[in-house]
Amino acid sequence: MVAGGAPVSAREFIASLDLRSADGPAPRVVGAMIASIDGHATLDGRAGGLGNPADRAVLRGLRAAADVVLVGRNTLTTERYATLLDPEQRDQRAAAGLPVHPLVATVSRHPELLADVPLLAEPDVEVVVYDAPDAALADLHDRRGARLIVCEGGPRLLHALAAAGALHDLVLTLAPLLVAGEGPSILTGGVLDTPTPMRLAHCARAGDHLMLHYRR
Ligand SMILES: NC(=O)c1ccc[n+]([C@@H]2O[C@H](COP(=O)([O-])OP(=O)(O)OC[C@H]3O[C@@H](n4cnc5c(N)ncnc54)[C@H](OP(=O)(O)O)[C@@H]3O)[C@@H](O)[C@H]2O)c1
Repeated sequence: MVAGGAPVSAREFIASLDLRSADGPAPRVVGAMIASIDGHATLDGRAGGLGNPADRAVLRGLRAAADVVLVGRNTLTTERYATLLDPEQRDQRAAAGLPVHPLVATVSRHPELLADVPLLAEPDVEVVVYDAPDAALADLHDRRGARLIVCEGGPRLLHALAAAGALHDLVLTLAPLLVAGEGPSILTGGVLDTPTPMRLAHCARAGDHLMLHYRR
């Protein structure tokens, strides 16, 4: 991966994004998504076919930095979430005095649909289910002390956060593919009342994939 003309690891790239801002009245919410050049967030119904090893390293690095990984129920079930972190990332968190795994939070009105998600059976992984994003953010901040929440989508959950003005950053990988078809963009939902301007704060390149960090 290359940023500013110099080789960087995913961990160095994430450190350069300075995502841990000072404590405030709300947690910092960072969306982490991938899209094709023509703006689709899935290939054959999943995100995985869009990625490359560097993109996966960035996603895992963001998880390793997070207090909370927030994921929509449909993404947890469709992508069959398991094993969030590499062993060395768990060791690094423990050495830094953090819980070995970030807390996993999801939003669902049908939590029974989560029963088969492999992540829920993993030791040391705590999964909390909320019935609305605003309740999730309030509880994660006020009761759980979360400062950095990484939201891995999906497009409906990310839309709800953006519509509520709760999305502060977006780390978007642009995948070098034309996909077309009916797959969603990274936000599924109605036109936002106020389109959210964001500025490009950082970027990196890994082969023909671009990693873009936008900040509100
Ligand atoms: N390209 C990428 O980076 C990326 C990232 C993630 C996912 N994806 C893809 O996106 C697809 C899934 O996305 P999705 O948009 O369908 O699902 P999603 O956002 O992961 O989950 C939607 C579900 O979350 C709950 N939910 C979301 N917003 C809510 C709200 N405001 N209030 C209450 N509950 C809410 C509901 O769960 P209940 O139905 O249980 O109530 C809803 O059905 C999959 O194909 C996945 O592969 C792509």
